[in-house]
Formats: sequence, structure tokens, C-alpha cells
Amino acid sequence: MKDFAGKIAVITGGGTGMGRELARQLVAEGCNVAMCDVSAEAMAETKRLCEVERLPQGLRITTHIADVSIEDQLKRFRDELIEAQATDRIHLLFNNAGIGGGGSLFTNTRDQWERTFNICWGGVYYGVRTFLPLLLKADEGHIINTSSVNGFWASVGPGISHTSYSAAKFAVKGFTEALMTDLRLNAPHIKCSVVMPGHIGTSIVSNSRKIQSGSESDRLSDVEVGVTRERLKGMNIDTAAMSDEDIQNIALDRARSFRDEAPTTAAAAAKIILDGVKADRWRILVGDDAHKLDERVRQSPEKAYTSEFYQSYRDEVGWRL
Ligand SMILES: NC(=O)c1ccc[n+]([C@@H]2O[C@H](COP(=O)([O-])OP(=O)(O)OC[C@H]3O[C@@H](n4cnc5c(N)ncnc54)[C@H](O)[C@@H]3O)[C@@H](O)[C@H]2O)c1
Repeated sequence: MKDFAGKIAVITGGGTGMGRELARQLVAEGCNVAMCDVSAEAMAETKRLCEVERLPQGLRITTHIADVSIEDQLKRFRDELIEAQATDRIHLLFNNAGIGGGGSLFTNTRDQWERTFNICWGGVYYGVRTFLPLLLKADEGHIINTSSVNGFWASVGPGISHTSYSAAKFAVKGFTEALMTDLRLNAPHIKCSVVMPGHIGTSIVSNSRKIQSGSESDRLSDVEVGVTRERLKGMNIDTAAMSDEDIQNIALDRARSFRDEAPTTAAAAAKIILDGVKADRWRILVGDDAHKLDERVRQSPEKAYTSEFYQSYRDEVGWRL
């Protein structure tokens, strides 16, 4: 798809981060956008930002509350979109919504594990199932599924359990790669791409914590303080002399630095993704860190989960996760 003007795009998780920047850039190119999120407030802000520039006449930006891990909510989003965008077809589907967390079978609850998995994997699967009939009706279509570098490297370092997110992101990658053939055989006017970002500066750390804990507060609960303390210990950090307030501050600072000190901004990431779609690339790595990790894992897969591998990679790209 060489041009987005006049097309209709669906974006899941359009409230913040890369979803928000995708919406802004698509709108700037004259593309209609229908987004969903669990946060009405965040989507309202995305819409406001999209409307800062004068919109082409008749361009539609619509917002819809839907949890992507619940198929019925995605179906409701689809029905609302058909009405609000006055259409029976869409051209672009960005399955972008995702959260972290639930990394351990031992220290996380089963609910936490499955929440992450069901959003990161279920959201992509249900998204494709729900919107495929609308893509089929368009003259050309493109499905863009967001995986992660954790779709080919199941770790964020040797001191942190990361099973749920990694399992989901590997699933997204495998599904999208297999979908290429399924589409070629059965719906050749639809293409698909898997997006694998490295570290992108977004609020995913704090958003994920809020969704996992069901709290809007930026402060950790007592239970979360305990879990964070254990996690720091797992990273060989001595927490004995730290007060609970120190732990709160470390967690806040980590969420801030994840957003503000990333090598790639959300806006730069969205541009890379949209350029990848226009260039018809099925495999979209986002950021130099993602490219370097891809090379290193291919070079020495057997070493990919050792401390030496992580440290040498981290030193090269400057990751401070
Ligand atoms: N930020 C990174 O470093 C990074 C790296 C690799 C992959 N990713 C992936 O990129 C995608 C976008 O992440 P981001 O960094 O922009 O995060 P973000 O938290 O800024 O944005 C994600 C959005 O999805 C929404 N969301 C969460 N759960 C939802 C649900 N169940 N239903 C609907 N909406 C939901 C959130 O409210 C939020 O607005 C995610 O799939 C994430 O896993 C991010």
C-alpha cells in the first residue's frame, strides 16, 4: 500500500505510545482512523492531538472502548466502527495493544500471567478474526501485528522472568509469518507485517502496572512494593537498607526512564512502521537495538540466554532496562 490518503485504519491501543503516534501520522496523511483502547481519557487526548492540525474535509477519527482480550468487545468495536465511519470495509489493521507483566510462573499469579498473554496474543488473534471480513471487502488491505524483539529473543536480561510476554510475542510472530501464505492463497489483496520494536520510549511500564493491578494510582501497593523488592534482589541489588519509599521511587524512576531515555521515540517508531508498510516489508524491526539483537541472536543462538550475551549486547546498545 503506497498511500494512506482516503483509507480507513483500525488501531488497537490507540490511547498512548506507538498507537497514538500511528494515529497522528495516519491522520496527517489523510487516513481515517478508528481506534480502541481501555482508556477513554487517553483516546480523547490522542484525538485532540490528531485534530491540532486542520483535518481534510470529511476525515473521521473515532474512538471506541474495547478490551482486545475479549472477543465480544472487539465485535462491538467493529459494529460501532461500521456505523461511525459509515463503511463496510477497512484497509489497515494495526493490532498494537499490549502490556507487560506476569513474567513468572512462581512469583506472579496465574491471572497476571494470563492477562498479559490474552492481551498480547489474544488481542492480535481476535483482532484479525474480527476485522478480516472488513479487510476482504477493501480493494487492498494490510494487517500489521505488533510483536517485539521478545518475539525472537525471550528475555529482558538474566535476572528477570519474562515468560508470558515472550510466549505471546513469539505467537504473534509465528502467526503473522504463517498468515502471509494463508493470505497469498486465499486473499492476495491483503498483506501482513510483523513489527518487532526494541526499546521504544512509551509509558508501557506504568500502563502495564496499572492494568495488571487494576489501580489508576502511580504509587505501588504494599504487595507490589514487596514484589519489586524481590525483583531487585533477583537482579543482585541489595535492598536491605532500602525503605518502602525508596522502592516506590525506584519504580517511578524506572517507568520515567523507560519512557524518556529510550533510544527510539514512539513517533520515530510509528514512522518506521508506516514506512515499512509502504515499502511492503513483512518484517519490520524498529530501532538499531532491534536490528543488532536480531543479528546477535542469529549469530549465536546457543548463547542468547547467558549473562555474557546480555551484558555485551547491553554495552553495545546502551540499554538501561
Ligand atoms: N515500548 C516498547 O519498548 C515496546 C517494545 C516492543 C514491543 N512493544 C509493543 O508495542 C505495542 C504498543 O506498546 P507501547 O509501548 O506503545 O505501550 P503503551 O502502554 O504506551 O500503549 C499501549 C496502549 O494499549 C492500551 N491497552 C492495553 N491493554 C489493552 C487492552 N486489553 N485492550 C485495549 N487496549 C489496551 C493501553 O491503554 C495503551 O493506551 C505493545 O504491543 C507492546 O507490547 C513495545
